[in-house]
Amino acid sequence: MRTMKAAVLYDYNTPMVIEEVQLDEPGTGEVLVKMTASGVCRSDLHVLKGEWQSPLPTILGHEAAGRVESVGPGVTRVAPGDPVVLSFKPHCGYCEYCMSGRPHLCAGLGGPAGTLPGGHIRLSKDGNPIYHFARTASFAEYAVIHESSAVRIGPETSLELDALVGCPVTTGVGAVLNTAAVRPGSTVAVIGCGGVGLNVIQGARFAGASRIIAVDISQEKLEFAERFGATDTIDAREEDTVPTIRKLTGGGVDYAFEVLGSGETVRTAFEAVRTGGTAIAVGMAAVGEYARIDAYLLAAQEKTLKGCFYGSARTHIDMPRYIALAEAGKLDLDSLVTRRYPLAEINEAYAALDRGDVGRGLIVF
Ligand code: APR
Ligand code: ZN
Ligand code: ZN
Repeated sequence: MRTMKAAVLYDYNTPMVIEEVQLDEPGTGEVLVKMTASGVCRSDLHVLKGEWQSPLPTILGHEAAGRVESVGPGVTRVAPGDPVVLSFKPHCGYCEYCMSGRPHLCAGLGGPAGTLPGGHIRLSKDGNPIYHFARTASFAEYAVIHESSAVRIGPETSLELDALVGCPVTTGVGAVLNTAAVRPGSTVAVIGCGGVGLNVIQGARFAGASRIIAVDISQEKLEFAERFGATDTIDAREEDTVPTIRKLTGGGVDYAFEVLGSGETVRTAFEAVRTGGTAIAVGMAAVGEYARIDAYLLAAQEKTLKGCFYGSARTHIDMPRYIALAEAGKLDLDSLVTRRYPLAEINEAYAALDRGDVGRGLIVF
């Protein structure tokens, strides 16, 4: 057992407490990672605000990279010293989803929310359990994760920026390349240009989209989106999104991505696609939120409404590839990060996200 600094959330809508907690050694099939950096994402904010229930107290954080410190019994895929990106969707490798190439939907690992596969809890404070949010709990100096959650990457990489591959890059770029399989020359709209939305935009640029229409309610975010490949921008406070997209494209886009997580914007995405087009819900809404869509048009215009979880990622294939694409200058990780914070300033980092500050914040250890 080791003692380490972590950010602990005791109750919704209260600040996280930076304090010393205890972490057990990795068990069978588990890996201990020393954290390099962990990104500031809206998914954690959903929990902070109580929009998603997660057992408390908990350590948040789910987009991170670091180095393997030690491994538990039976671990063969990684060794101490290996650089890894953390995946918040561990997978068994044997269930129907895993075997059919969809490990992001794996149903083969048990354990309730807030625990590691098998129901294990390795975090505690003075003998009382602390839950592992998203099976990663990366807002801590160290984390114990399932072996399949430790995605080994090349040695020559910037681990700090690679933290973003743990969520926004894999989700955003994967939504384009895997979930939607955007064809070169297609037209794309992206509703919500935060950390994940910017990666949908640069994924669409990489996929060869001819037009990428960025939609947001912040002029600053729209200007930032242009750096990642947006060809047109719509300020949803000033313009009516759907008619504007229809006008720009002569009837609607081929693909519209919702990257905020609200029923209203899922509907906007559905209405913004042309006949035969596809709307993809990437944002994760608050639990209990519904999207109203026109059931007649769904059939009559043969539209597709598709969900996207974690960029439909095959993490051990996709994550190293996204890093290679970044190294080749085809994806931009550098510009995504606009602010770096020590762990002690994590509450300020989430206040900045909530305020709508531009780009991604990164907690650097
Ligand atoms: N129309 C368009 N854009 C909007 C609207 C709206 N009505 N309301 C908010 N936005 C914009 C915000 O200005 C912001 O730029 O949506 C963006 C959301 O980005 P972030 O808050 O940075 O969220 P992000 O971390 O990118 O996550 C987006 O993906 O992983 C999930 O849980 C996560 O649901 C969340 C989503
Ligand atoms: Zn599985
Ligand atoms: Zn995230």
